[in-house]
Amino acid sequence: MNNQLISLAAFLLLNIVASSAQRQVYIVYLGEHNGQKTLQEIKNIHHSYLHSVKGSKEEAESCLIYSYKNVINGFSALLTPQEAHTISDMDGVISVFHSHPTKSRLHTTRSWDFISLLEANWDASKANGEELLSKASYGKNVIIGVLDSGVWPESESFNDEGMEPIPTSWNGICQTGVAFNSSHCNRKLVGARYYLKGYEAYFGPLDPTLDFRSPRDINGHGTHTASTIGGRRVPNAAAIGGVGNGTASGGAPLARLAIYKVCWPVPGQSPAEGNACLDDDMLAAFDDAIADGVGVISVSIGGNTSRPYTEDGIAIGALHAVRRNVVVACSAGNSGPDLSTVSNVAPWIITVAASSVDRVFSSPLLLGNGLTIEGQSITPFQRATYPLVYAAAAEIPGTTTDLTTGLCLDGTLSPALVRGKAVFCWAGDTPQALEVQRAGGVATVLGNTVDGIGVVGRPYLIPATVVLSNEDQKLRIFNYSVTDAAPTATLIPTRTLLGTSPAPFMADFTSRGPNFIQPNILKPDITAPGLNIVAAWSEASSPLKVAEDNRVVKFQIDSGTSMSCPHVAAVAALLKAIHPDWSSAAVRSAIITTAKLTNNLGKPITDALGNPATPFEYGAGHIQPSKAVDPGLVYDATYDDYLLFLCSSSGGNLLDPSFNCPTNVPSPSNLNYPSLAIADLQGSFTVERTVTNVGVGNSSYSVTIDPPPGYLVRISPATLDFSMAGEKQSFSITVEVVSSANVYAFGWYRWSDGIHQVTSPISVWTVL
Ligand SMILES: *[C@@H]1O[C@H](CO)[C@@H](O)[C@H](O)[C@H]1NC(C)=O
Ligand SMILES: *[C@@H]1O[C@H](CO)[C@@H](O)[C@H](O)[C@H]1NC(C)=O
Ligand SMILES: *[C@@H]1O[C@H](CO)[C@@H](O)[C@H](O)[C@H]1NC(C)=O
Ligand SMILES: *[C@@H]1O[C@H](CO)[C@@H](O)[C@H](O)[C@H]1NC(C)=O
Repeated sequence: MNNQLISLAAFLLLNIVASSAQRQVYIVYLGEHNGQKTLQEIKNIHHSYLHSVKGSKEEAESCLIYSYKNVINGFSALLTPQEAHTISDMDGVISVFHSHPTKSRLHTTRSWDFISLLEANWDASKANGEELLSKASYGKNVIIGVLDSGVWPESESFNDEGMEPIPTSWNGICQTGVAFNSSHCNRKLVGARYYLKGYEAYFGPLDPTLDFRSPRDINGHGTHTASTIGGRRVPNAAAIGGVGNGTASGGAPLARLAIYKVCWPVPGQSPAEGNACLDDDMLAAFDDAIADGVGVISVSIGGNTSRPYTEDGIAIGALHAVRRNVVVACSAGNSGPDLSTVSNVAPWIITVAASSVDRVFSSPLLLGNGLTIEGQSITPFQRATYPLVYAAAAEIPGTTTDLTTGLCLDGTLSPALVRGKAVFCWAGDTPQALEVQRAGGVATVLGNTVDGIGVVGRPYLIPATVVLSNEDQKLRIFNYSVTDAAPTATLIPTRTLLGTSPAPFMADFTSRGPNFIQPNILKPDITAPGLNIVAAWSEASSPLKVAEDNRVVKFQIDSGTSMSCPHVAAVAALLKAIHPDWSSAAVRSAIITTAKLTNNLGKPITDALGNPATPFEYGAGHIQPSKAVDPGLVYDATYDDYLLFLCSSSGGNLLDPSFNCPTNVPSPSNLNYPSLAIADLQGSFTVERTVTNVGVGNSSYSVTIDPPPGYLVRISPATLDFSMAGEKQSFSITVEVVSSANVYAFGWYRWSDGIHQVTSPISVWTVL
């Protein structure tokens, strides 16, 4: 049934592409400002490009959308393909590409306990989280920029009571607009801006009934991600009906948040289907965020996985940020379980996958024949027994086919046959629950839309439970409901189970490697909680985001890599607070090399089906903040290292012409990355790595290797001796094909001084 979700996403992209034929917004990328020009001079230069293709000053002015002015040099404009082509040949132009609407796929109480950042009193062995937070002063000196759908400033999560004055490094603003004025910013929400010009050039003027023309969030997504990163501790927080109750908290509860609203509703589409975030709006937001003085940027927005770095607004914006040591974390995408679906794969970004926490919202189903079927629900309801009907036995004749029967699709259920009953839909989500309700059903049992143990919880409007997509279980319900003379089902209200196992497991939806753009860089990098996460919500949005739902909630349960990315952004903020001198690459390295590979049963982390998960799902593994703070060694990389990487990866350095590619460019695998990927290996291949000692001065590390099956891995030297902190040592890794066929193989190598374990995943494939 996962195909249903995938095809929905593909359908939306196609829709967007179809309408782009009329409006052509292009980004003209010119690199970076050297800091010597005035704002007017910059604008004049941008105008002159446009003037030369448009012929008049007036036309040049009216087609200009953005003139990037802080750090990023470039502009966006309405151009014909011919004009875009002409400009791309002009002096100083690095690239010209379409500004695409990328969709923000809705891609925290328990999650921070689970990764042991809170007191963790449920497990004494994990009690070091509070120590880490206090060492980082709860992130109070770090400002985190959030590119998303805005913020609901009244949420308790953004209360600034007792917070110290805003750090003097902050240069941003609180941009006013509809239902948003300067008093909505405070010591927690230190800044807020919105970016609409690219959206309006593409879709036409914003319909004021669809969204606020201001940083205010009508969607909920931006409020959820911002509060996950830096929300205050709010006791007794819960989603609708008290589900998931506990203390809500961001990962860095005293960190400062800067909101950059870049995602807006797509005209004619339900908000439940996601927002559009235009590349040129996002680039403007990156340009401002960097100049405003943020230390971390969190981007839970996913785009087309096959766009090269040079045509990707997030990748370009992130490169400018990373050059200034701003850490950028992005969501990996929700297009799993298919391979090659991971997005945001630039090696200067931390790419975050999604996995479960150890909490299940259990809501079993009791059949009239005495059978109990395991179910999950976050819909609050009272225990009750209903007559049960299988959807296929209650359809309006002619509305379904063999392929669609039993699926409760729109307009298929007969009111005469379902009124007053609980309807069993073979698979379902919000549309199915709404169809049951429309036809007069009073409760529903939905087969999970994906296989395996993960259920994406939603608070439906009628009593509902989701049964796992275990064919056996579903067949039992089916068989009982069609053979019994008067079948009944009792729905049992949700009970929150904590400490459930296995946990974590990989969410079925999390996007997978290999990296489509550059298979010699392993992506995603890391996994973090992204399944059924409780965090703050917009009071202008209903939990289901459909017209039928007019409930208002302060907290909401949501799932996606959109939810896991902010966890990593928060951890990056804490690491920056503790290690202000670390580069973005050092922060990422610390997170990657200290990740956990086992679940709470002490077994390898699995996918939702129970199969061992691979680095294509979780990168290096599950994040462990308290280990990341003291990684021992880091794999550092500079801006120039990324440009050198681009020389080989994109067939030339296409992002910064001030850097000359050497004649013999090293393989992209040679980037000093904390993981190793080698695509299409022939015979044997050797890469270099350099580690920097960030631990105690005097130490000796030795390596252990767990080679990918069918390959031989040699590391030389096998021991690295350091005599002082900050010292660098290099080593080489040789990977040789022994007996492998055309399949992906994974292994590990690990440096240890007896205290620190610095672990790197290896991913390799070959064609024999
Ligand atoms: C901002 O808006 C609120 C209402 O949301 C109002 O109470 C307040 O006076 C306004 N503040 C300013 C500075 O305009
Ligand atoms: C949630 O609420 C229930 C019922 O009031 C209570 O028993 C439980 O302790 C609460 N859980 C948390 C984590 O606060
Ligand atoms: C994704 O990007 C690639 C490369 O730019 C392009 O060929 C393709 O049409 C895009 N796909 C969609 C659905 O936009
Ligand atoms: C279906 O139900 C009937 C009647 O209860 C039972 O005899 C039969 O074994 C069941 N079949 C399956 C496949 O569960």
